[in-house]
Amino acid sequence: MGSELHINGHRTVAAPGMSLFGAAESLGIKVPTSCNQNGKCRECLVEVSQGMELLSPKTPEENHLRENFRLSCRCKIAADPGVVRCHTMRRGEMRIERHAFELPAGGQKWKLDPAVTRDGDRILLEGQEIARSTAPIHGLAMDLGTTTVVIRLLNLETGEVVADASFENPQRFGGSDVMARIQFDTQDKSRLLQRTLAGYLTHAIEEFPVDPQTIYEIVVAGNSTMRDIFFRLNVHSIGQSPYRSITELEMEAGRRTTTSLWESASKLSLPLHPRARAYGLPIISGHVGADAAACLLAVDLANENRLIAVMDIGTNTELILGNKHKIFAASCPAGPAFEGGAISCGMPGLSGAIERVKIGTDGALETGVIGNGPPLGICGSGLVDLVSELVRTGRINPLGRFEDGSEKFIVAAEGDASIYLTEGDINELAQAKGANVAGLQVVFHDYGISFSDLDVFYLAGGFGRHLDIESSKRIGLIPNIENSKIVRIGNAAIEGACIALLSRAKRAELEELVKNVTHCRLEAHENFFNFFVEGCQFNPVEAQPAAHNI
Ligand code: FES
Repeated sequence: MGSELHINGHRTVAAPGMSLFGAAESLGIKVPTSCNQNGKCRECLVEVSQGMELLSPKTPEENHLRENFRLSCRCKIAADPGVVRCHTMRRGEMRIERHAFELPAGGQKWKLDPAVTRDGDRILLEGQEIARSTAPIHGLAMDLGTTTVVIRLLNLETGEVVADASFENPQRFGGSDVMARIQFDTQDKSRLLQRTLAGYLTHAIEEFPVDPQTIYEIVVAGNSTMRDIFFRLNVHSIGQSPYRSITELEMEAGRRTTTSLWESASKLSLPLHPRARAYGLPIISGHVGADAAACLLAVDLANENRLIAVMDIGTNTELILGNKHKIFAASCPAGPAFEGGAISCGMPGLSGAIERVKIGTDGALETGVIGNGPPLGICGSGLVDLVSELVRTGRINPLGRFEDGSEKFIVAAEGDASIYLTEGDINELAQAKGANVAGLQVVFHDYGISFSDLDVFYLAGGFGRHLDIESSKRIGLIPNIENSKIVRIGNAAIEGACIALLSRAKRAELEELVKNVTHCRLEAHENFFNFFVEGCQFNPVEAQPAAHNI
């Protein structure tokens, strides 16, 4: 007799006393560890979605963990029978967008000019010798997101991508949004968030097909909180009004000339060459971070004459609007609904997620599932499709209420299990969308243009890449503009980080460009609340009358 245990979708029967780590190993699942299961490295995280009551009580080594997270080497099956479902931090299998598409800067209009160069067998960093070697020289670019991390390994002599990797940000045990992470990091004096991430990065780097000692620089893009936690800075001020990174405060006080960061990679516990350097891209302001800055490089905004907008939809949505003459930016706290969080049957965009929904003329539901297997839940793009179809067919009204008084809409059912959508879920999507729409309205209003004045609307990020444009326009997630102006560009932030890694000239260009971006502080805008309330409704977002201040 034992408990039925599902780890990463694999099933086994585990007897009382068996650790989740041991059970995972018996299923051939590799759990990250650097301490041989003795509770010290805190890397062996699992997120438990069912059966928490069947597990042993939390141990002192797990006191730092929130909600449903456990250390798999400490956590044992304590009772049977029953069902326990959990997963390790996901790697690779997540449909994380690793690349960018259709970008103007993608054509390499810049010259290969990295900070690390070779002179015979001398390896130079900014002209100073740091090593002697005839092996190839490499660099890393990283997009450090609240939910996901993407790293790319490049050959610095050729500019070629050698390998890449992606994984769920293991800092999720400290909360799913930046505010929760700030609170966690401020209370925790042991830098556990940074150390856990460094452990996961170390494993990813060691799996690359090159000697880590040949990696001499890492360039980091990420929102202000993720970047500053990575560089072991105090993030308390980003969580308090007026929401500023300590680097901005120091710049204002005249103690630094830029918000960008340099640090020895060894001080950040990364297994690179001992003299390797980490460079954190500058942030724009407040929560508009180094990821938004990287997008500026990726879309080549410094050389852009057309009016463009970039919208990177996620837990925190970044907005950029303008051209080389005038740039505005904002950050919208949308919450986790777009990543499948806070939704009854929500899940990230990985195998088993319903990603497409259509309702036929006969009322029959057609769904598309990632991996074509049985559906396990709904991811963000499936949620947008589903709500859009329910609005189109009159099953829910623009306020997100079921017209027939139902409590839920069944999307898929098998035996006792069903995948469904409640009014509460619709409300979560409405609020996430409301924050984005309010951001769009504020930025366009302050810039003095209407949506119809745009030449190009770039939809960035993994979620944006998989959104159905018509569904998104119908429920007002993106502005109701011509399809020909909408370009889905995938992960622009990693592209921007790569450009900064390979070109010192582009790095210098970005350092200047961020100083000329006007940050629209949404929370301070007089119309924000009205825009938000309007944006929560499931109606197309139409062009506002323009003030024409271009
Ligand atoms: S394996 Fe290191 S804490 Fe569990």
